[in-house]
Amino acid sequence: MNGNCYIGVDLGTSAVKLLLVDEKGAILNTVTKEYPLIFPQPGWSEQEPAEWWRACTEGIRALLDGFDASRVAAIGCGGQMHGLVVLDGADEVIRPAILWNDGRTGAEVDFLNNEIGKARLSELTANIAFAGFTAPKLLWMKKNEPELFARIARIMLPKDYVNYRLTGVHACDYSDASGILLLDVKNRCWSKEMLDICDVREDQLPRLFESYEVIGEVKPDIAAELGLPAHVKVVAGAGDNAAAAVGTGTVADGACNISLGTSGTIFIASDKFGVDPHNALHAFAHASGGWHLMGVVLSAASCNKWFCDEILRTRDYAGEQAPIGDDRLGRNSVFFLPYLMGERSPINDIDARGTFIGLSMDTSRQDMVQAVLEGVAFAIRDSFEVAKALGLDIRASKLCGGGGKSPLWRKIMANVLNIRIDIPSAEEGPGYGGAMLAMVGRGAYPSVKACADALVTTASSVEPDPEIAARYEAQYRKFSKIYPALKAVFPALR
Ligand code: XUL
Repeated sequence: MNGNCYIGVDLGTSAVKLLLVDEKGAILNTVTKEYPLIFPQPGWSEQEPAEWWRACTEGIRALLDGFDASRVAAIGCGGQMHGLVVLDGADEVIRPAILWNDGRTGAEVDFLNNEIGKARLSELTANIAFAGFTAPKLLWMKKNEPELFARIARIMLPKDYVNYRLTGVHACDYSDASGILLLDVKNRCWSKEMLDICDVREDQLPRLFESYEVIGEVKPDIAAELGLPAHVKVVAGAGDNAAAAVGTGTVADGACNISLGTSGTIFIASDKFGVDPHNALHAFAHASGGWHLMGVVLSAASCNKWFCDEILRTRDYAGEQAPIGDDRLGRNSVFFLPYLMGERSPINDIDARGTFIGLSMDTSRQDMVQAVLEGVAFAIRDSFEVAKALGLDIRASKLCGGGGKSPLWRKIMANVLNIRIDIPSAEEGPGYGGAMLAMVGRGAYPSVKACADALVTTASSVEPDPEIAARYEAQYRKFSKIYPALKAVFPALR
């Protein structure tokens, strides 16, 4: 076979997933390489950028093994968002990256939201401060690590570090840059006032690109090391959620994608710039050139992984879910708040914690497994309700991410949200989206929309069942009472 091939990279929180994709969208090979997460203190979350690079280089070599590498034309990366990566003047990483699910920046978030003020932040950036965003981390470094802060020559996001090592170009795309809180999202440029507030200079920040634009070529020495041909292009890529939206074909105005990965997100694409007046949903740029609104649940599939791996001591997730039939859906008296790392949307509470409630002597193991899946679905419904209150009429959503592979979780999502859930044929959301952006950058398709229309198809759909959805409606009302009742308790548990 001949024709160009593309490498799609999904730089996730627990692993990098790499895809080799041909121009017709067929996935020729996939490789996953894991790396460790570091939790230096409760609620803190870090990773070593060198681990990402090691995993990516090993991964690309493994991905190409047995394939004609000379066909590789371009690389596109979707990456975990918001992580603060800082390099000094000698291009050395100054400290481990502080990740999107890190909750150390309470004081900085309070300063930004209360002293600068939410209204001003929203005017400047279209968003307010959340603990995971990048700007509060810069303020945290300035206060807590002043000598390290003074050494910063370049500020970048996780996938931009990989792109920098590949090309030597310090670049970022608008979708990922939106989550730094230094970008004027509406006008797609850095906000000078935000830079002043955070004591950051524009020369420390990356050059901005659309996600599908080529930022450079893989450097000759790196190409030789990876077994790549000369002149492989690298596109700017996107934040993982925008990349996943591209990969699931969530590009048209009003289209929706839900991701059940380490985090859970609900992503609504929009042709026009718009802000949720309460800023409960993020207003970010889309990788297609448009915008999107997004709600983020910090712990989603990670809740199920934690409960099965750490508590039940099993990796047999499907076996745990097998006994949970339709008759049990919407009838669980156990509820779970999935706030294992605090919570982002819509409650913005770093002190919130995971909670089982409603346990009794007849509670079974399966009730608790089910409560975990349902708790995540209810937490996503919280953001879905915000979107509905903005007048968005969402009748169906794509679903991707590791959690989206579970038939039970698909059914729970469809019935808790009471919408049709569509499963795309390529389940590898961000990596596939990254490869699609690379195709557009290389000119294989004229636009992201054209690429999505040509390549993305729906493999199957799950319709809500009116009886189950009605039961879940009542369950959601109960779930909605739990956090407000416990809110004041969480800070005392710190
Ligand atoms: C989005 C967010 C997470 C990460 C996960 O705002 O924080 O979805 O991107 O990788």
